[in-house]
Amino acid sequence: MRAYNFSAGPASLPEEVLLELRDELPTYPGLGAALFEVSHRSKPYAAVHDSAVDALRRLLGLEEDWHVLFLTGGASMQFYQVPLNLLGSGQTAAYVNTGVWATKAIAEAQKVASVRGAELRVAASSESTGFDRIPDPALWDMPRGAAYLHFTSNNTIYGTELLDDVHAGSIPVVCDASSDFLSRPLDTTCYSMLYAGAQKNLGPAGVALVLLRDDLLRNRPASLQTGLPAMLDYASHTGALYNTPPALSVYLTEKVLRWIERQGGLAEMDRRAAARAGLLYERIDRTDFYRGTAAPAWRSRMNVTFRLPSEELEAAFLKESERRGMIGLKGYRTVGGIRASLYNAMPQEGVEALVALMDDFEARMG
Ligand SMILES: Cc1ncc(COP(=O)(O)O)c(C=O)c1O
Repeated sequence: MRAYNFSAGPASLPEEVLLELRDELPTYPGLGAALFEVSHRSKPYAAVHDSAVDALRRLLGLEEDWHVLFLTGGASMQFYQVPLNLLGSGQTAAYVNTGVWATKAIAEAQKVASVRGAELRVAASSESTGFDRIPDPALWDMPRGAAYLHFTSNNTIYGTELLDDVHAGSIPVVCDASSDFLSRPLDTTCYSMLYAGAQKNLGPAGVALVLLRDDLLRNRPASLQTGLPAMLDYASHTGALYNTPPALSVYLTEKVLRWIERQGGLAEMDRRAAARAGLLYERIDRTDFYRGTAAPAWRSRMNVTFRLPSEELEAAFLKESERRGMIGLKGYRTVGGIRASLYNAMPQEGVEALVALMDDFEARMG
């Protein structure tokens, strides 16, 4: 029996998708081999790759001027690739610091800025309150004429999320959407770029989805239009496949995207995310035994973080959860506590099982 998998990533995938994959192994229909054993320039692979791109376009309503890229190096590669491509000499980039991943993105951008004589501005930070919230977007300090504004929509470790799209006027907005991508409809007109490591809401690890609007590339300063390392230059990837893509990851991601469409698209993902998180937060708030760690206004629907009265109780809770077929509930290694990750593939029954465990555990230990 499959466990309810609350892991923050790699994370649970829809069972339907895994069974489909099983049926297509070791021979993809009509091919005589697995899909990822043949050339990425073959018709069958190209059809799946194109289907993934098309599904994304449909789900998000992306216009033709958006590029959809499947790149390697995870979301962490984007921390460097974004400034490498977009931050020219003498320019300023603004970053919102909402946790470990945002801090890493800033550190990578700082390396590029130092070499190029560019400036980095921290537009807002919630570090002083232990990253328990998102600084109010109305108060972000956005330098006029900035090359771009970078923010993280969902902070996987601290369990905070910005559910509103960000409006930054004429400043291009770049969003690390790794841990809430495709969990709700987006107003893509607010963004110039979104990126996400696939291994949470989308598919297996090994591919990062990068969506970017063509004008972001076209408007780059001349010094950034040529001379970048080819693999790291977004422009290398906007036409025919530049090199071998992570075929297995794209193949599985395409199945997840079509699964999302069959379920009812992003409106339905949104409804389910609200229902799952609503149930769990309601349980956390019902008594003082469990304590949510994120400021209520900024609670994430994807990663629900909470504490018990002691670390001993948390250890016992985790042990019991595994006995009951629930895995991956341990909080991030540097912050501890419990973290229940409720991505698209988590069924409501998984949350109900967790709430039942919380009720029983408190009745015995509270
Ligand atoms: C919000 C966010 N950004 C970036 C990353 C880094 O992703 P990757 O491991 O794909 O480099 C993570 C990983 O969990 C994340 O949660």
